[in-house]
Amino acid sequence: DQPGPLSGRHAIVTSGPTHEPIDPVRYIANRSSGKQGHAIAASLAALGARVTLVSGPTRLADPAGVTTVHVEAAREMLAAVEAALPADIAVCAAAVADWRPALEAGQKLKKQQGGALPPDIRLIENPDILRRLSEPGPTRPALVVGFAAETECVLDHADAKRRRKGCDWILANDVATGTGTFGGDDNAVHLLDDRGVESWPAMSKQAVADRLAARIVDHFAAPDPS
Ligand code: PMT
Repeated sequence: DQPGPLSGRHAIVTSGPTHEPIDPVRYIANRSSGKQGHAIAASLAALGARVTLVSGPTRLADPAGVTTVHVEAAREMLAAVEAALPADIAVCAAAVADWRPALEAGQKLKKQQGGALPPDIRLIENPDILRRLSEPGPTRPALVVGFAAETECVLDHADAKRRRKGCDWILANDVATGTGTFGGDDNAVHLLDDRGVESWPAMSKQAVADRLAARIVDHFAAPDPS
């Protein structure tokens, strides 16, 4: 590991989308590219942390100096995160599917002949990885950071999400159509914690990652009083 202010600390970072299987050839997914999460993994490693990156399917190369675990569905992502514990830091940047098909068909679903209706795909809830990591207990990382991807009332929804999920910080980003937040190279985030909101200007996802990593160094140097 590279020496630095986070030497001796283990960080788990989730990144990318999840793919939730419908049948052997089809899945439900979203537009996450993994750029933001992978950049965070690289920034933490550059500051000396030992980093486990748990990534859904992306087109990105594995960041240098990071242990990358590749997964597809939310349940695999949760299992990989739990296997990587304990950790001092967790950053959940993955766009985990909230729901998955209740049944994964063993064979490719066939179009019915004779005008039958398309299949109804019933959805059930996926496990919430950020919420699990935030639960109090001996394996809770000292600092748990989530993201909130919102298309309206960004700060209000992000604050409610932080309280509901129990993480320490949440980075709110606007993912409305036209923002390019999903998939693009830049991001504009607001960091929310117990003490309030800090709005960062738009910058590259790598710069967001570097700034977050620097904040994490400060946090461990002088932990929040809360
Ligand atoms: O990948 P990019 O193209 O670079 O785009 C970056 C991003 C927009 C995906 C990223 O910045 C971001 O916002 N990631 C979180 C996306 C998301 O799914 O947000 P959410 O508001 O639905 O979820 C809130 C938090 O709970 C997130 O930390 C998410 O990782 C976590 N979560 C959600 C559902 C679930 N089942 N498990 C989770 O851990």
